[in-house]
Amino acid sequence: MSDVRPLAGPHLPPAPREIETLEVILTAGCNLRCAYCYQDDKKQRRMSWDTLCSALDLLMRSPPRHGTVLFLGGEPLLEFDLIRQAVEHVRQTRSRRKRVDFSIITNGTLLRDDTIAFLARHRFETQLSFDGVPAAQDVRGPRTFETLDALLDRLPRTHPAFFRDRLTVAITLTAATLQHLADSVAYFLGKGVESLAVSPVVTHDPYWRTENIALLEEQFARAFDLSLRHYKRTGRVPFLGFRKDASPDVHAPRGGTMCGAPSGRALAIDVDGAVHGCAVFVESYQRFTNPFLRAGVESIRLGDFRAPDFADRLARYPAAARALRIFHDKPSKHSSYGECQRCRFVEQCSICPASIGHIPGNSDPHRVPDFACAYNLVSLAYRERFPAQPTPLDILTGRVRAYGPMRAVQDGLAAGRRRERGARALRAARAASPRPRPGPGR
Ligand SMILES: C[S@@+](CC[C@H](N)C(=O)[O-])C[C@H]1O[C@@H](n2cnc3c(N)ncnc32)[C@H](O)[C@@H]1O
Ligand code: SF4
Ligand code: SF4
Repeated sequence: MSDVRPLAGPHLPPAPREIETLEVILTAGCNLRCAYCYQDDKKQRRMSWDTLCSALDLLMRSPPRHGTVLFLGGEPLLEFDLIRQAVEHVRQTRSRRKRVDFSIITNGTLLRDDTIAFLARHRFETQLSFDGVPAAQDVRGPRTFETLDALLDRLPRTHPAFFRDRLTVAITLTAATLQHLADSVAYFLGKGVESLAVSPVVTHDPYWRTENIALLEEQFARAFDLSLRHYKRTGRVPFLGFRKDASPDVHAPRGGTMCGAPSGRALAIDVDGAVHGCAVFVESYQRFTNPFLRAGVESIRLGDFRAPDFADRLARYPAAARALRIFHDKPSKHSSYGECQRCRFVEQCSICPASIGHIPGNSDPHRVPDFACAYNLVSLAYRERFPAQPTPLDILTGRVRAYGPMRAVQDGLAAGRRRERGARALRAARAASPRPRPGPGR
């Protein structure tokens, strides 16, 4: 590649410490107009190679031995050439002691066979945003269902390992599509999807009513039954909400905060190089109509990562984020359903702090949206009821019951252990019983 340039050139200030993830906004534009998209001010602005290259260098010079680059937009595949260049740059300039992984979040409509082959070859963790059955997916884009449905048919044949190990389908849930949730889960299970994430919208949902929690409950009851039957048959739990072995991602509660955004270890780099703690605060593609959120975003801006004082700003960032109060003190938060300090899910519940600022007219940093709270209350209750999935040690010891093909393995091991115990008992009994005395005739 002609414009790959040496790492750590004079163009960058000293690397700040502990950057683990870069979320790079390759473009503020998109080929779809999903009704609920928080990016309400899309534009045809793209990241230059110069900016992207410098951002990658920043990650590679940061001390952690493992870094992740997440390609985002707008729609990141509109800038596939930049992705290719970035991967090549990292390959050529990364030091031997640094591991760099790649991820992408895409609407999938631009995934061609050569694109998929590239993502598979470079082991991209790929999130395909796909809301399910046509009635739900139509909200994202008319006729996109057919394209993505054909993609899910093709992938297991053309790239089985990528489909199995690297692809997560992500449903973004709204009050209007809630009625299709269980059908969508059934659809994805039927397609053989191995990893399925569901998240409620972070922006205000005008159609959510407090009593809709009953519909959420009904949909989850069906999704639970479907997932349990699938688990008993296959031994797999695609719906991540029911997986008890899944490791938490950067958006999960962490170290007393609601998510990883106030840590400064994950940086979202906008098309022009301006930095925020998470892509939901990036300014090129959205307006922030709530004055509380707008002022909050301004108070935690990190500025351009190439500025001489960037490391100092980053060092001050966790304190600025704390002052905003939306990220911290979970027990003080509340919704119409109650106070978090009285909720048994307070340690597990995952709520995007930006959603607090999307409630129209809200300026209370502790008021969380009802839809997000209801989603946690219902999904975590069903998660609790879902059987724990055994670890390899559990399978060996039989401590937790396995399902699917692993059940036969576990049963075989248990039968072996029973036979061994029986044989040991027999040997012990023989050893304990008196030896027959020699008879008188001998
Ligand atoms: C903003 S998109 C950018 C990447 C790509 N265009 C896509 O759709 O996957 C990233 C993710 O954010 C989700 N998203 C968009 N608007 C949202 C909202 N208001 N609340 C929660 N998630 C949202 C999308 O569904 C998608 O999964
Ligand atoms: S969710 Fe993704 S695909 Fe949909 S409009 Fe937003 S950026 Fe585009
Ligand atoms: S589920 Fe609702 S009440 Fe419980 S901790 Fe989460 S936001 Fe608070």
